[in-house]
Amino acid sequence: MNIFVIGFMGSGKSSLGKRLASHMDRPFIDSDKAIVNELGMSIQEIFEQKGEDYFRTYETEWLKRVQDKDAVIALGGGTPCSDENIEIIKSKGLVVYLIVSTPALATRLAASKSIRPLIEDFRDDPEKLKEFINQKVAEREVYYNQANIKFDGESVDSEKLKRLAELISMSAQH
Ligand code: S3P
Repeated sequence: MNIFVIGFMGSGKSSLGKRLASHMDRPFIDSDKAIVNELGMSIQEIFEQKGEDYFRTYETEWLKRVQDKDAVIALGGGTPCSDENIEIIKSKGLVVYLIVSTPALATRLAASKSIRPLIEDFRDDPEKLKEFINQKVAEREVYYNQANIKFDGESVDSEKLKRLAELISMSAQH
């Protein structure tokens, strides 16, 4: 069974996903990277040249093609955020929502080297960034909260990672 890792931008889905995959001896897939590879364009280029709607449609099509590879799959922050997408995700695996507080997300996003089109205009303005995060998280929580497991994504040391893997194994048995 696949394990999907969802959560806001900067919540650590890719880095935790990679660690979890290696801990559980599973393959790791990053949906943003997979889409970037398929299209031969960066996320920024896709948004600029094709538009956000094109990217969102592509995310849905990508999700429909996901096979059961017993993989850990980190999704883009917006990927689960439609009724159609969250239903596809839940039908294809166990879902883990990484919860991180707004101040921690803002700090991580301001320091991150990745270019994220949705925040580029104000990533250097801490107040605007926090306001945006609060608003978007409030909009998106209805989807994120449908996860099977909600996990505190701040300071995940190896003990905490082990606990997450145990929670996943337990949930998978039900
Ligand atoms: C987005 C999150 C990004 C990427 C795109 C849009 C979003 O992924 O898919 O920039 O809408 O939250 P990360 O969550 O990996 O940054």
